[in-house]
Amino acid sequence: MTRAESQVGSDWPLLGRDREMELLTSALATGASGGGVLIGAAGMGRTRLAREITATAIRSGRATQWLVATRAAASLPFGATLSLLPLDEPATEPFAFIRGVIRHMEALARPYPPVVCIDDAHLLDDASAALIHQLALRRIGFLVLTVRREEPVPDAVVALWKDGHLEPIELKPLPPEAVDTLIARTLGRQVDALTRAELQVTAAGNPLALGQALVKGLRDSTLVRRGQVWSSRASLLTGRERQVCLLAASGLPSQVIADRLVLSVRTVNNHLSRAYGKLGVSRRADLMKALNGSFPVMDPTGR
Ligand SMILES: Nc1ncnc2c1ncn2[C@@H]1O[C@H](COP(=O)(O)OP(=O)(O)OP(=O)(O)O)[C@@H](O)[C@H]1O
Ligand SMILES: [Mg+2]
Repeated sequence: MTRAESQVGSDWPLLGRDREMELLTSALATGASGGGVLIGAAGMGRTRLAREITATAIRSGRATQWLVATRAAASLPFGATLSLLPLDEPATEPFAFIRGVIRHMEALARPYPPVVCIDDAHLLDDASAALIHQLALRRIGFLVLTVRREEPVPDAVVALWKDGHLEPIELKPLPPEAVDTLIARTLGRQVDALTRAELQVTAAGNPLALGQALVKGLRDSTLVRRGQVWSSRASLLTGRERQVCLLAASGLPSQVIADRLVLSVRTVNNHLSRAYGKLGVSRRADLMKALNGSFPVMDPTGR
């Protein structure tokens, strides 16, 4: 892993989430709500925000529990919440388990309620969902759940925010300024404007997508550094070269491209061979890969 690659993702400072942090930290401090549900698309930063809240809670001296719901754990009743009860407290049937957890959590609640984070709560098994619902109803603990927007969510979890026990917090795409700052954290301040625009469009405010685009670009050298300035190889192409490349990458032969752009076949081939050099490819078949994700900002017809 290169130095630039290691500056991606978990190494980034938390950006663009001031409102959400403020909402949760003030609810935590005042006890105004029983917690929040962070709802967002895949990669939008739900786990990161929940981690930041947990860190804040630890700094303020609270007990915390970090639970992760997974498909594997969901095959077991209380699979995701087993660790809420110490192993030496046996509870062989569901009610005994729920009672045991409630008692244990109440004991932890002095002087402040513990913070319980459940990452990917849309994957909770039914028994765990019912248990979490009980904790929310009784206001035992400050609950922070993360839920992936596109996934089905158990009823007991939806009820947590529909019935007003927890605050729903929608994670929107990060603002462009935050994305620019993250790009600069990874590549430095000197990034060519078109490349920055390409990365902005590829990421669409999603920090996971941005991190993946940067790592991919660095690994397969579609992001290159010339002097002090980072550019995507694709951004080195002229407008005409881009048009020709996109049409060639979509499988059109030179003759058809020439007809479409009202150029000679020879000119089309000249554009292509110059573009191959800039993109570091030697065949049409590799064009698509070299262009992949690089041209979301342009139309193949150049219009
Ligand atoms: N607001 C932010 N500022 C800076 N980096 C962030 C921010 N949000 C997330 N990240 C980083 O982006 C990456 C993806 O975030 P995270 O894993 O929290 O997303 P997620 O919504 O939980 O994704 P998944 O759908 O895979 O569970 C992580 O490396 C994280 O540190
Ligand atoms: Mg996550």
